[in-house]
Amino acid sequence: MSVKLGVLISGSGSNLQAIIDRCEAGELGAEVAVVISNRADAYGLVRAEQHGIARVVLPRKAFADEASYNSAIRDTLKEHDVELVVMAGYMRLLGKEVLDAYPNRVVNLHPALLPSFAGAHGVKDALDYGVKVAGVTVHFANEVFDEGPIILQEALAVREDDTEETLAVRIHEIEHRILPEAIKLYAEGRLEVVGRKVRIRA
Ligand code: GRF
Repeated sequence: MSVKLGVLISGSGSNLQAIIDRCEAGELGAEVAVVISNRADAYGLVRAEQHGIARVVLPRKAFADEASYNSAIRDTLKEHDVELVVMAGYMRLLGKEVLDAYPNRVVNLHPALLPSFAGAHGVKDALDYGVKVAGVTVHFANEVFDEGPIILQEALAVREDDTEETLAVRIHEIEHRILPEAIKLYAEGRLEVVGRKVRIRA
């Protein structure tokens, strides 16, 4: 049986597209049950529509506070029988209401090698710092931004002439590969969280 995914987005959704493509190819043992966006103009919503996937827009401003906003996200996920939540370019901190309903079942994607360069500008911050090695992290989300147990990481070399844009292109290529890979590992039942470590079973 395939794992039902709820994918949270805020923007372009190129990672959502990578997930959809690998799901449709039957490679992940998973399917996207619903896409939730906090922005009505997120292009990822168009991608979801093109693939006949349910879309729900939940703008933070439509809710009185963080708790009721996050409760609405949780309820939407539950309505679609979501088992695994994937934050694919969702640019907000996910609340306790969702995390408590999905313990170790919320995956986040970050465009840097955590714990370095957490936050909303991982690529720019790493480049400004002058790192020679950049990378991507896929991890389970917890209540602290960009802090939970790491599932997969991959590094890449920074080039002398890299700009934020050129580095981001190569980072995206890695993201489009390892985020679906983490979903596949989950669907195969191969991820075990022990303390703050994720063991990948053979
Ligand atoms: C990704 O680089 C992700 O790491 C970051 O936001 C970007 C989302 O890209 N958090 P997209 O919307 O999947 O194209």
